[in-house]
Amino acid sequence: MAYEVLARKWRPQVFEDVIGQEHITKTLINAIKSGRLSHAYLFSGPRGVGKTTVARILAKAINCEKGEPGIPCNECPSCTEITNGSSVDVQEIDGASNRGIDEIRELRESTKYMPASSKYRIYIIDEVHMLTKEAFNALLKTLEEPPAHVKFIFATTESHKVPVTILSRCQRFDFKRISPARIIDHLEKMTQREGVECSRTGLALIAKQAEGSMRDAQSLLDQVISFTGSKVEDGNITEVLGIIDRDIIFETSRAIIEGEPKKCLEIVDQIYNYGSDIKEFYRALMDQFRNLMIILIASREYLLDMTESEKEEAARQAGIAGSEKLQVLLNFMISREADLRFTSHPRLILETTVIKLCHLGEFLSFDDLLRKIESLEKRLTGSPDAGRQPMAAQIAESSADWVSEKAGKRASQEESTAKSGQSWDDFLTFLQSKSKATYNILKDWQLIKLNEKIIEIARSSQSFSSTYFDDPERYKELEDYCRDFFKTDIRVKIVNNNQPKPSKSSASQAKDHSDLPPPVQEIVHMFQGEIAANKKGGVKK
Ligand SMILES: Nc1ncnc2c1ncn2[C@@H]1O[C@H](COP(=O)(O)OP(=O)(O)OP(=O)(O)O)[C@@H](O)[C@H]1O
Ligand SMILES: [Mg+2]
Ligand SMILES: [Zn+2]
Repeated sequence: MAYEVLARKWRPQVFEDVIGQEHITKTLINAIKSGRLSHAYLFSGPRGVGKTTVARILAKAINCEKGEPGIPCNECPSCTEITNGSSVDVQEIDGASNRGIDEIRELRESTKYMPASSKYRIYIIDEVHMLTKEAFNALLKTLEEPPAHVKFIFATTESHKVPVTILSRCQRFDFKRISPARIIDHLEKMTQREGVECSRTGLALIAKQAEGSMRDAQSLLDQVISFTGSKVEDGNITEVLGIIDRDIIFETSRAIIEGEPKKCLEIVDQIYNYGSDIKEFYRALMDQFRNLMIILIASREYLLDMTESEKEEAARQAGIAGSEKLQVLLNFMISREADLRFTSHPRLILETTVIKLCHLGEFLSFDDLLRKIESLEKRLTGSPDAGRQPMAAQIAESSADWVSEKAGKRASQEESTAKSGQSWDDFLTFLQSKSKATYNILKDWQLIKLNEKIIEIARSSQSFSSTYFDDPERYKELEDYCRDFFKTDIRVKIVNNNQPKPSKSSASQAKDHSDLPPPVQEIVHMFQGEIAANKKGGVKK
C-alpha cells in the first residue's frame, strides 16, 4: 500500500479533533446548533494550522444528512463526497490559480443554481488574497446580495491583502499558531499509533522547527521516519533536519562562559568542516543563551526541547555565568547578528564574535561599573550625607582633605586635648574596650589636631588600614565613638599623612601609587588599574 503522508492521514474530520483552535470550533458548532450561520466566513492565520481543515468540516457539518448538529457523520454521501473532493455542491477553489475576473464571473453564474443534492452550495476559496482587484469587485457583488442557498468560506494567510469591503462582509476568524506542547502531544499520539519509536525530546525538536504549524510538524516527522524507519533516535532528527547538534551548542556555551576562546575556535572549525550552516549555528547559540536566561529566572518547564540532563547542564552553566553576564553576552550576540547575516565571510565574523564573547565576561558589566562609581562617589564625599560636590571636581582637587568640611573657621592653633580634658590616648584606651578593630587601625594613625569641634587625624600609610574609614558606615561609627567619649558634637576629619612614608610591606604586592592624589589612588585601587600616563608627572611605568 502506498505510504500516505501523515498530514493527509491525520487530517481532522470533526471539529473536536482540531487542535488549538477551540475559540473557533466552539463558535462554529454553536452557530450551527442555533441555526445562525453567516453567509460568508473568512479564516485567516499562519500556514498549516487548520484553516482548510476547518473549512471542510464546516462545509460537511452544514450539509450533513445524518449527524448531530455541528458533528458531521462522515458517512453520508454528502460527507464522503466532501472528503473525496467530488462533491458538486461544495467547491474548493484555489485562489492562486483562479484569480482572474473570468473565473469569479463563472463562479457568480453558478451561484444562481440550486444545490444538486444538499442544503447549500458552498464555495471554499483558499488563498483568497491572491484574487485580482477586478475579481474581488465581482465577488463583492455576490457578497452584497448572496442567494440564500449559498455559503462562502475564504481562507488566507495574508488577510491584510484582502480588501476591507470584502472583510466587512464576512464573519472573521483568526487561527492561531499551535503551542509546542500541543504539537508534541499530537506527534506523540501519532507515533504511538503508527508504531514509531521516538523520544519526546526528539519530537520537541521537530515541534520547534515547525514554528506552530501542525502540517509542518507532520511533514518533518514524515521526513525523519522515511530516513530512519520505525526507530527514531534524537541524533537522526538533528541530522535529517539539519539542526545543529545539541552537544556542540552546549560545549560552545560552556566554553564561552568559562572563557576558553581556543575551544570556541575548534568548534567553529568543526562546524565549518561538517558543512553546517554558520548562521544556523549562531541562531542556535543565541537560543541557547536565551534558554540559560530562562532557566535562571523562570521554570525549567519552559524548556521543552531539553532532556533532563541537558536542563541540569544548562542550570549549571547559567549558575556560573549569573544573569548579568548572560545579559551582556546575549546583548552582544544580538548586536552582531546583523553583521553575520550580511557578511560574505560568516566564518570570520563567527570567530571574532566567539572570541569576544569569551572575553566579555572578564570585563565589568555596566551595573558593576555603576555600583563602583556610586561607592566611589560616597567615599569622595566622606559620608553619604556630607555636602556633595560633582565627582569630577572632587577628583580634580588633589587636596589632602578627605572629609569635606562644612563652612566654619579652622581653629588657629594646634591643640591636643578636647575641652573635656581628655586626650587622644585616653580615647584610644576607651576604644580598646569598644571596638578592637577600630582601635587596631587608629593606633597607627597620627593625631594632627584635637579641640572641642574637630579631631583631625592622618591616615597611616599602610594600604589596608589607610582606607578603613573610607567606608561611610565605619566613618560614622568612628565619629559616634568620638562624640560619645568627648561628650561634644565633635567632627572627625581625616587627612593624608604627608610625612615621608616608610617603605611598604604590603602582602598583596600592590603597586605603589602613593605619589598620586588620594582620589586618584582610590580610583586606581578600585578598578585595579594602572596609570599609563600622568600629564603632570610624565609617563609612569
Ligand atoms: N489545528 C490542527 N489540529 C490538528 N491537525 C492540524 C491542525 N492544523 C493543521 N493540521 C494538520 O495539518 C494538515 C494541513 O492543515 P490545513 O490544510 O488545514 O492547514 P491550513 O491552515 O489550511 O494551511 P495553509 O495556509 O498552508 O493552507 C491537516 O491535514 C492536519 O493533518
Ligand atoms: Mg489551507
Ligand atoms: Zn454526514
